[in-house]
Amino acid sequence: MSERLVVIAGSVPGGAGFLESFLRVLTSASMVKPLYKRFPDGETYVRIPVKGPGRAVIVQSIAPPQDSSLLTAMLLADAAKRAGFERVALAAPYMAYSRQDKVFLEGEPLSLDVVLRALYYSGVDEFYTLEIHRRGSEKMFPGKSYNITPFKDLAPLVKTRESTVVIAPDRGALERARELAEAVGLEYDYLEKQRDRVTGEILLEPKRLDVEGRHVILVDDIISTGGTIAKAAKMLRGQGARSVEVMVIHALMVGDALARLKESGVSRVYACNTLPPIKDEIMEYVDVGGLLAKAFKDLSGASVEGT
Ligand code: R5P
Repeated sequence: MSERLVVIAGSVPGGAGFLESFLRVLTSASMVKPLYKRFPDGETYVRIPVKGPGRAVIVQSIAPPQDSSLLTAMLLADAAKRAGFERVALAAPYMAYSRQDKVFLEGEPLSLDVVLRALYYSGVDEFYTLEIHRRGSEKMFPGKSYNITPFKDLAPLVKTRESTVVIAPDRGALERARELAEAVGLEYDYLEKQRDRVTGEILLEPKRLDVEGRHVILVDDIISTGGTIAKAAKMLRGQGARSVEVMVIHALMVGDALARLKESGVSRVYACNTLPPIKDEIMEYVDVGGLLAKAFKDLSGASVEGT
């Protein structure tokens, strides 16, 4: 039996394009925009102008300002449940706190676990996100959770020039590099840390492949300060790479990340529209709103009216 579906359009700083593409896939869903205000003391107020029954999907990126985005998602979920929606999903293009998915040092919290549980206890039954930092960590969410991995969908962007090689800046990103490389039929590798025995300096070197004279596509989940990619790009250029392009899902671009990347010799950055876009000639954004909506439609397990 088909069910009514309402899209609660929260904040998606990747731009209007994301939400439009999301809605284009869920053809018969209706869409509402929440009402927001701040109380005089600074507290957040939200209200949704819609009632159940049916299902609701909140589209809200847990993006900077992270804590406020998170709280808004929690308030929207609670409002949706109280308004009579039996099932509430959160589609979060970007999920903050994903990189604190371990207790690295004694005394630290397991932040991802905290925020995912907070969302669940606020009323989110199903959680959908794109390329979470460590694949599988979305399972900390106590309800149904889905991490959509878009690298093979980004394959059409790759200019398959002769001698192009896909490289992960560390072992953790190898699976991502493999997915992209296999989708376009390219070789792939990852950078391994080596210590120069004479100088003691840390070097990043491809594990198997020689990059001399080759075009490199560096693949990672996220650029934050740009430090990881800039260091890798600089080393690869120093090892003779003809060009270095970058493909990531989330481009936070904190502080002087863009300048850092340019200075390291990166000629292009392909990123998805999960975060606010930066206008610059080397930045190219890919709309993944439809991809997340399609995943929601395919995985949500209930037929949605008319779709
Ligand atoms: C690390 O494990 C991640 O996959 C990224 O490489 C890292 O978080 C990027 O951060 P930044 O741009 O600040 O180096």
